[in-house]
Amino acid sequence: MDRQQVIAAERASATRAVDAQPVIAVRDLRVLFPTQDHTQTVKAVDGVSFEVFPGETFGIIGESGSGKTTLGRALVSLVEPSAGSVIRGGVDPKGLSGAALRAHRRDYQIVFQDPHSALNPRMRVIDSVMEPLQMAGSRDRAADRKAALDALSHVGLSAELAQRYPHQLSGGQKQRANIARVLTLRPKLIVCDEVVAALDVSIRGDILNLFADLQREFGLTYVFITHDLSVVSHISDRIAVTYLGRFMELGPNAGVSERPLHPYTEALLSAEPIPLPSHLRTARRITLAGEIPSPVSPPSGCRFRTRCPSAEARCAAEVPALRELRPLHWVACHFATADGPPSPSFKTTPQETT
Ligand SMILES: Nc1ncnc2c1ncn2[C@@H]1O[C@H](COP(=O)(O)OP(=O)(O)OP(=O)(O)O)[C@@H](O)[C@H]1O
Ligand code: SF4
Ligand SMILES: [Mg+2]
Repeated sequence: MDRQQVIAAERASATRAVDAQPVIAVRDLRVLFPTQDHTQTVKAVDGVSFEVFPGETFGIIGESGSGKTTLGRALVSLVEPSAGSVIRGGVDPKGLSGAALRAHRRDYQIVFQDPHSALNPRMRVIDSVMEPLQMAGSRDRAADRKAALDALSHVGLSAELAQRYPHQLSGGQKQRANIARVLTLRPKLIVCDEVVAALDVSIRGDILNLFADLQREFGLTYVFITHDLSVVSHISDRIAVTYLGRFMELGPNAGVSERPLHPYTEALLSAEPIPLPSHLRTARRITLAGEIPSPVSPPSGCRFRTRCPSAEARCAAEVPALRELRPLHWVACHFATADGPPSPSFKTTPQETT
């Protein structure tokens, strides 16, 4: 795509995203954990706000330890917010209990990285796929069985495979069965946490295409969590780039993956190995120095500053606010402009500013 096409794609994606009421609205979410010795606090998610709209795929990318899984778990009530809120379909689940809470929760599902994890090794696939319906209170086994076979057929698994045990399936088939498990519930939102990371590269494309097909067929809404830029740019409408529990950048897919605004996104793009299409690889190659700092004591000011090639003294003193520099394209960097990230600074090095 040339620059004009990218801008047109950004606008189209941005317009689509504001057309409807959100499926989920996250406001200043914080999830804190005590360290093992209970003397300190891990700030796994540390002030995140965003909305996800019906039929959208909202991608979340970041390095290991940036809080992606914790955020995904908070979206489906597998972990409670320490502060802030997660409003689902206009409802704050904190105000619900008993049957109302159970009915509400079934609309918000998660699929994990490990295709073995959700399938009970001692149960036939068909029984595992029926299980969520029965846990949700269904007493009609015949109807559940029909719904499970229907879901399995939609993910490309035959009635014969449905009778097998998990160890008799390939990794890709197991992940298809996991998708069928949540599909039976017809959820309003599916959080997909590294769903292709454990699969052979040769079948990742098939599973991603399956997610896209199911989205078209059932009008599904996804939050797609991954550390792999080629995956997130393949499937997402919008992308949020996380670092140490906060969003560094949030915007339309074309804008974030082809014209990033944040130095961290630019570094992720340039670090991506060959599978990234050539038009998504940046001309300037930037190496991310060192490891991601500990979420127990993130750097002051901009938490990316210890690895940022453009860091200045202000970056240590002041937390950068998310600013909308292009339509619905936000960045948390003091010096980014609508044209892109700041140029690397040669006055100071990241180490000198720590
Ligand atoms: N239950 C917990 N108790 C204490 N710390 C936790 C807990 N869950 C996660 N953490 C910590 O919170 C931080 C964020 O973890 P999280 O798993 O959300 O990151 P992630 O971005 O999903 O990483 P990865 O890409 O490796 O899956 C990490 O430092 C992790 O050790
Ligand atoms: S220039 Fe400063 S504010 Fe911008 S990303 Fe780098 S350290 Fe953060
Ligand atoms: Mg994770």
